[in-house]
Amino acid sequence: MPTRSAAPRAATSQTGRERDWDGVRLHVVTGKGGTGKTTVAAALALALACDGRRVLLVEVEDRQGIAQLFDVPPLGYDERRIASAGSGGEVRGLAVEPKAALLEYLQLFYKLGRAGGLLERFGAVDFATTIAPGVRDVLLTGKVYEAVRRRADGGPVYDAVVLDAPPTGRITRFLGVNTEVAGLARVGPIKNQADSITTLLQSPQTAVHVVTLLEEMPVQETVDGVAALREAGLPVGGVVVNMVREPVLPARRLGTAAKGRLDADEVAEGLAAAGLPHGPDDVAALLAEAQEHAQRVALQKAERAEVDALGRPVYELPAVPGSLDLGTLYRLADLLRDQGMA
Ligand SMILES: Nc1ncnc2c1ncn2[C@@H]1O[C@H](COP(=O)(O)OP(=O)(O)O)[C@@H](O)[C@H]1O
Ligand SMILES: [Mg+2]
Repeated sequence: MPTRSAAPRAATSQTGRERDWDGVRLHVVTGKGGTGKTTVAAALALALACDGRRVLLVEVEDRQGIAQLFDVPPLGYDERRIASAGSGGEVRGLAVEPKAALLEYLQLFYKLGRAGGLLERFGAVDFATTIAPGVRDVLLTGKVYEAVRRRADGGPVYDAVVLDAPPTGRITRFLGVNTEVAGLARVGPIKNQADSITTLLQSPQTAVHVVTLLEEMPVQETVDGVAALREAGLPVGGVVVNMVREPVLPARRLGTAAKGRLDADEVAEGLAAAGLPHGPDDVAALLAEAQEHAQRVALQKAERAEVDALGRPVYELPAVPGSLDLGTLYRLADLLRDQGMA
């Protein structure tokens, strides 16, 4: 079972269940590429949407990963419903696209109306959104901020927003881009907007969760990423250890197996009893596999200790066999809820 070494904002919901992030409105999910950011962000969104909540799941990397995962047509700007959850809860999806975000931004601040289209014809929109990477991030974070803050009928439109964010190597720069803007624009609406975004991102309403595998590189990126986030004053959330594989050997055998000292005769007997080939080659192959497995388990334990040393709540998700379908995603969401992440 996962140990939760710290649960800073632990709260008890109406159902009496403990939830670690009740005060959080914006969940940012980062991690090394390929560790399962999109999968975990989606599972977290589903988990948060239980109990009749409305959750927005946002992607900013132009990959349509969410649409693929939920098996729906490509997402756009219309915040379409992509999944339902318990008690009338729902997840909506949004793929933020820098161009659309810029036109919306210009409209908002400069009431440009049709002049936006004119800018687009002159290539100014392309310039701002693809050639100037900082501008791109300002627009993307600006849209996320808008979704978190949006209100209707006297309350927030979304109970929570989950961001499938850029990887650990870029996350601090991405979330910190507005402090650079505020430094450039000393006064005026752009500075105010940048300051508001920074205030939200550095507040207890935001949590930056990191997804990792129990392997050397992803754990190292997690440790470095957490340090960088802390230095930038960004609130570090939990660590999600993804694709956990349970040891197939009993604990008392692992040490012997790792040293390659399992009893060959015993293994041969076991194979024979199971009606499997049990010649010397078969036994040797199995012993080698057992050794490799035991060594990997030992390594995972060491990596897990490094994760625990970060002093953040840790959640675990198993490696699920086969392709990841929607049913599996709901199961992962349940596991996150069981562990108090949502
Ligand atoms: N818990 C899991 N068990 C099995 N496969 C997983 C799990 N989490 C993610 N995957 C698979 O790993 C791959 C990478 O996951 P993805 O969420 O796209 O990562 P990222 O967004 O970090 O690049 C995908 O094929 C996904 O289906
Ligand atoms: Mg992804």
